[in-house]
Amino acid sequence: MHACVCVRMCVFVCVSGLQAISINYDPKEMCAIKGSKVVLKCNYPLPQGYSFKKGSWYKHDSRTPPRTSVGKFVQFSTECSLTLVNLTFNDSGLYEYRVQTTSRTAQPTDTTRVNVTIVDTLHKDCWGVSYSSDNFCAFEGSTVDIPCAYGYPRDHAINKTFWFREETKKDPKDLRLVEEYRGRVDLSSSDNNCTFRIRHLRQNNSGQYRFRYITNKQGGAFSGGLVNISITDLQVSMTADTVTEGGNVTLTCNTTCRLKGNATFIWYKDTKPTRHPSIHNTLHLSPVSSEDAGQYFCTVEGQEGLLLAEATLHNDTVTLTCSSDAYPPVHTYTWYRKAGHDITLAGAGQSHVVANISSKTNGFYYCVAQNDVGQ
Ligand SMILES: *[C@@H]1O[C@H](CO)[C@@H](O)[C@H](O)[C@H]1NC(C)=O
Ligand SMILES: *[C@@H]1O[C@H](CO)[C@@H](O)[C@H](O)[C@H]1NC(C)=O
Ligand SMILES: *[C@@H]1O[C@H](CO)[C@@H](O)[C@H](O)[C@H]1NC(C)=O
Ligand SMILES: *[C@@H]1O[C@H](CO)[C@@H](O)[C@H](O)[C@H]1NC(C)=O
Ligand SMILES: *[C@@H]1O[C@H](CO)[C@@H](O)[C@H](O)[C@H]1NC(C)=O
Ligand SMILES: *[C@@H]1O[C@H](CO)[C@@H](O)[C@H](O)[C@H]1NC(C)=O
Ligand SMILES: *[C@@H]1O[C@H](CO)[C@@H](O)[C@H](O)[C@H]1NC(C)=O
Ligand SMILES: *[C@@H]1O[C@H](CO)[C@@H](O)[C@H](O)[C@H]1NC(C)=O
Ligand SMILES: *[C@@H]1O[C@H](CO)[C@@H](O)[C@H](O)[C@H]1NC(C)=O
Ligand SMILES: *[C@@H]1O[C@H](CO)[C@@H](O)[C@H](O)[C@H]1NC(C)=O
Ligand SMILES: *[C@@H]1O[C@H](CO)[C@@H](O)[C@H](O)[C@H]1NC(C)=O
Ligand SMILES: *[C@@H]1O[C@H](CO)[C@@H](O)[C@H](O)[C@H]1NC(C)=O
Repeated sequence: MHACVCVRMCVFVCVSGLQAISINYDPKEMCAIKGSKVVLKCNYPLPQGYSFKKGSWYKHDSRTPPRTSVGKFVQFSTECSLTLVNLTFNDSGLYEYRVQTTSRTAQPTDTTRVNVTIVDTLHKDCWGVSYSSDNFCAFEGSTVDIPCAYGYPRDHAINKTFWFREETKKDPKDLRLVEEYRGRVDLSSSDNNCTFRIRHLRQNNSGQYRFRYITNKQGGAFSGGLVNISITDLQVSMTADTVTEGGNVTLTCNTTCRLKGNATFIWYKDTKPTRHPSIHNTLHLSPVSSEDAGQYFCTVEGQEGLLLAEATLHNDTVTLTCSSDAYPPVHTYTWYRKAGHDITLAGAGQSHVVANISSKTNGFYYCVAQNDVGQ
């Protein structure tokens, strides 16, 4: 008997604790291409006296909160947005957001939810923008193409399409009309195609961009997700900056962001191709010799006129040459190094290369020439 009362009390408390919070979803329905990602967004006014504790997105067909550990969902507490990545057809469905406040759980007041449909291609029936990627890395001076597709309901007609920079979100400006970009940007004019191109990229074109379209009907507008464009140049780094006979030096030509596809790196030493082989963006001088000293340039095939990075490999080798005009000719040269009172054998041969200049090699060098007659 007592147990029954307790259950009734619990139910009573829970039901009375449900606070009606109206969640606004923007947009309310959308299509996205399989394999892409989509961001669901909402906002809501929190009634006075309540404070936010936790928010969760639910897929209508399952009552369990999506698990973040799957990697499929990225949830932001107060931002009320959900990013679904690597979309599969199974991700189609109705999504809703529920807020938990410090004292109570808020239940949606109505049955409003976000209707997400995963499709093969964006057709005319559904709102949605799909980019081939949301991150682009390009060289200064080059051209970037952002493949893009969009859809809208059959009974709408397009009034306006444009790309804008995220910084101007409150007052999105068509980049074709912005002085900075004028004459350098193209937007595809074919149906359902929002492919965008920026030519002669500048360093300050790095940033976040979005596509937006407006139809001829009231409320008919939609913005795509964010696209990042990063402008990069080349930098050469070396594992050593001096030539050490017999050692190894690796030169790496790096970009500050990751290029899509394969860039073919080209190396020059002074004005000629290098004698050493390069692998992707690295050049291995192995073993290195004094003749490798010089200026190294790296560029990318197709961008030769735009890009160049350089590094100088210094020549710190000292070659001592022993000469003698003795007759009969000298057949043996022996090198000695005198440092203080110590005399050490330093090498043999007409030329003696002191590869490493250091305190260890400091000293006075002299050679002794020997022929069949004497010294
Ligand atoms: C999405 O798919 C790509 C490629 O299949 C994979 O590398 C990535 O880890 C996946 N991301 C998530 C969050 O599952
Ligand atoms: C989609 O759901 C069906 C049925 O629940 C399941 O058999 C299938 O493996 C799922 N596909 C993917 C790609 O998750
Ligand atoms: C969700 O959207 C799809 C495609 O637009 C539509 O076929 C479906 O009926 C919608 N579902 C609901 C519950 O509105
Ligand atoms: C979209 O337009 C661009 C530029 O006009 C074009 O290169 C591309 O092939 C078009 N894409 C499709 C899928 O038609
Ligand atoms: C961007 O860089 C170009 C030159 O590269 C310059 O003319 C332009 O004023 C810069 N714009 C801004 C907003 O700094
Ligand atoms: C769409 O364009 C037409 C003609 O240019 C205009 O009359 C109408 O008001 C526009 N609709 C919207 C929603 O902007
Ligand atoms: C875009 O760039 C910003 C700033 O560099 C970064 O925080 C964000 O993660 C990037 N977005 C994507 C989708 O890579
Ligand atoms: C230089 O590299 C070669 C192979 O690439 C390796 O055999 C050799 O030990 C390296 N020498 C030094 C001094 O690191
Ligand atoms: C340069 O590229 C190499 C190989 O791709 C990488 O190991 C290294 O960390 C990069 N260095 C910088 C400074 O980005
Ligand atoms: C990049 O190069 C690798 C091997 O050289 C090749 O397998 C791959 O298909 C290339 N990728 C692109 C996008 O060209
Ligand atoms: C480096 O120095 C040595 C000896 O001084 C010389 O023989 C060699 O030509 C120099 N190499 C370069 C590239 O200057
Ligand atoms: C030069 O010095 C480096 C490191 O100090 C050493 O690894 C290398 O073997 C030396 N080379 C010669 C020719 O002595």
